[in-house]
Amino acid sequence: MNSIKKFWKTKIRVLLPEWLKQTLSFVGNGFQKSRIFSTTDRNEFLTKIMQLSDNEHVENCSPDAILRSDSQPPARVWWSKQKDWKAKDVTPLRYERLSKFIMEKFAPYLQPDYIVCDMACACGDFSFLIADKVKQIEAFDLSEGMINTAKNIAKRKNINNIAFMSADAVQIKLEENKYDAFLMLGLLTCIDDPHIDGIVKKIHLSMKQKAKLIIKDSLTLKNNTEYVYNYNTRYSAYYHTQKDYISFFENNGFRLIDMIVLEHNLSMSCIFEKQ
Ligand SMILES: C[S@@+](CC[C@H](N)C(=O)[O-])C[C@H]1O[C@@H](n2cnc3c(N)ncnc32)[C@H](O)[C@@H]1O
Repeated sequence: MNSIKKFWKTKIRVLLPEWLKQTLSFVGNGFQKSRIFSTTDRNEFLTKIMQLSDNEHVENCSPDAILRSDSQPPARVWWSKQKDWKAKDVTPLRYERLSKFIMEKFAPYLQPDYIVCDMACACGDFSFLIADKVKQIEAFDLSEGMINTAKNIAKRKNINNIAFMSADAVQIKLEENKYDAFLMLGLLTCIDDPHIDGIVKKIHLSMKQKAKLIIKDSLTLKNNTEYVYNYNTRYSAYYHTQKDYISFFENNGFRLIDMIVLEHNLSMSCIFEKQ
């Protein structure tokens, strides 16, 4: 099965037309769903992933990482090993809609003298999208591998105003009152609940008054935060309700000014203004 997956990812996939890729991805995701454990009870989630046998998480997570999951959830371990993850390849429709939202609704706020932060930039897709509209971008990601890939892409594209740096959003210290705009796309599903408030407060302090923040994440349609562990990808994530997601920011000095649902099951993007 692994060799078929590898062949699909590396060889066949690139040759197929976009409509066929999307259909096959949908079938693939349907298969994966049967291997997902999810719950809205955080303790049940932590107990369950600690009980996984060695060969259930041997691919990307060490048993040690699972055992330390309360402070270091497997999402961190999985992501820190990625080298070339691009939303464009993994969720093309969502990428297309988000890019359009950024260009139409967020980019008009940007100015040529702006200093921008892109937290959890992966290989830099969204930094590259807005690089020619601002003076400087500081782009951070947990994964050194992806930061290296981003640096190589920047060199190839001859883009010189993005500083890519590996850093942990939980630990990083940000200068106060520095950024004119801020992107944090897809980070919060990787962050355990107790750390979210600290990150949002830190971002708020690092931004100038009235500066704009754009966020995007997958959410849950259930009534409570849903904790999900995917046995196939060995990736765990936290899916919040739309109300809780927006509250993280509204309770910490941000005002919602725009939003879009990117997919109904449920991924959304919001633009906030620092108050
Ligand atoms: C879903 S991807 C989103 C990437 C990109 N922003 C996008 O929207 O295409 C999540 C990203 O968050 C990064 N990440 C996860 N935990 C992190 C942390 N604690 N600090 C910094 N980055 C983290 C991962 O390495 C990964 O690149």
